[in-house]
Amino acid sequence: MKDLSPRPGDLDPIEIASRDEISSLQLQRMKWSLKHAYDNVPFYKRKFDEAGVHPDDLTSLADLAKFPFTVKQDLRDNYPFGLFAVPRERIARLHASSGTTGQPTVVGYTKNDLDMWADVVARCMRASGLRPGDVLHNAYGYGLFTGGLGVHGGAEKLGLTVVPVSGGMTQRQVRLIEDFGADGITVTPSYALSILDEYAKQGLDPRKSPLKVGIFGAEPWTNAMRKEIEDAFDMHAVDIYGLSEVIGPGVANECVETKDGLHIWEDHFYPEVIDPVTGEVLPDGELGELVFTSLTKEGFPIIRYRTRDLTRLLPGTARSMRRMEKITGRSDDMIILRGVNVFPTQIEEQLMEIPSLAPHFQIELSRPDRMDVMTVHVELAEGVSVDMTEAAARDLSGKVKSNVGISVRVNVAGTGKVARSEGKAVRIVDNRPKEK
Ligand code: DLL
Repeated sequence: MKDLSPRPGDLDPIEIASRDEISSLQLQRMKWSLKHAYDNVPFYKRKFDEAGVHPDDLTSLADLAKFPFTVKQDLRDNYPFGLFAVPRERIARLHASSGTTGQPTVVGYTKNDLDMWADVVARCMRASGLRPGDVLHNAYGYGLFTGGLGVHGGAEKLGLTVVPVSGGMTQRQVRLIEDFGADGITVTPSYALSILDEYAKQGLDPRKSPLKVGIFGAEPWTNAMRKEIEDAFDMHAVDIYGLSEVIGPGVANECVETKDGLHIWEDHFYPEVIDPVTGEVLPDGELGELVFTSLTKEGFPIIRYRTRDLTRLLPGTARSMRRMEKITGRSDDMIILRGVNVFPTQIEEQLMEIPSLAPHFQIELSRPDRMDVMTVHVELAEGVSVDMTEAAARDLSGKVKSNVGISVRVNVAGTGKVARSEGKAVRIVDNRPKEK
């Protein structure tokens, strides 16, 4: 793997500023953001008034804890433009969630917001090791999803040559990576695995691809998966995090020289970690639910948004800004199997330990005989004899039993039978009867 560490002068001064400088900038911006929300969004005025707080009550960063949380339902209740803080005419772009599981949620950006977004994504691309003039193959979906266009704007701002390929047509993905000499790829980790399969199908060696780094996010993935992908492509794999409500991709990114969690661009997005049950703010280092407050957004300011993502805050290393640990999972994705809490990432970690199995997986939940059963659907790795099927299944269920503490059934399906994703993977299929 190539050394992609930054050289002196590569970084923005704020990325290596002192903590004091960062905190005082945050306080000044937080005061502005709370006032902006209160003065321009009736929802925030009502919520603050009901809680008996006013933007003037914020005199330190810790005072933020006095303000009420915002949750996804608030976006739904104010569909489509009710949380915008500027007249609709000043909104330069809209993005929205797909709304497959309910009312879609809509976010809006002014021109200044789009500029800021491009700045933070440019930082992410640079933290990942890309430099002006490099080619970026952007396979995040373009459209209402923030992944494609969000990465695109920042990549252009950094001065990369962007290939706006979007998701899908996997054969063509491989061809363009090779023909255009992609230095970097931005894609969900699960779709990266499909691209990897396609290399094998085309008889090409992925280790000989031009790629130097993959920038993976939009879904949880483990360090075990990092190793798998880095070995397969002989490239670096770093983590990029974000969510539409806060901006899109580019809230936080790992630095390629340390790969020790994601630096949060705290000069624009203020993080807190709370106890998901009591809502109490936890000290840095403790595991809980991540909450964000935007500090500079004009169009769609967001105050104390509960992400449902579980992680902990850690001190800065390669940059002065704090890190968040790789996300364990979303609280919505936590499975409680006979009293034990399980996240799909824990199954992924065990699966990656077994060379005879491919890295694709899906978890099915069912309830035969009134007992919850978890079945992990997997496939044999390329070139592994079918004679290995039983041993591989036993291996995986054994590892899950001893390391995660639950009994699972393992179904080793034929090659290509486990559902593939072209964007975010669907890790859990819940076939249990719905509660009445
Ligand atoms: O997924 C934005 C994005 C696009 C991030 C491309 C990174 C790359 P949403 O569709 O709003 O936005 O989904 C946000 O996805 O709350 C997390 O649960 C999950 N997520 C995003 N990045 C990561 C990551 C985009 N690196 C939701 N690790 C978030 C784990 C992630 N989960």
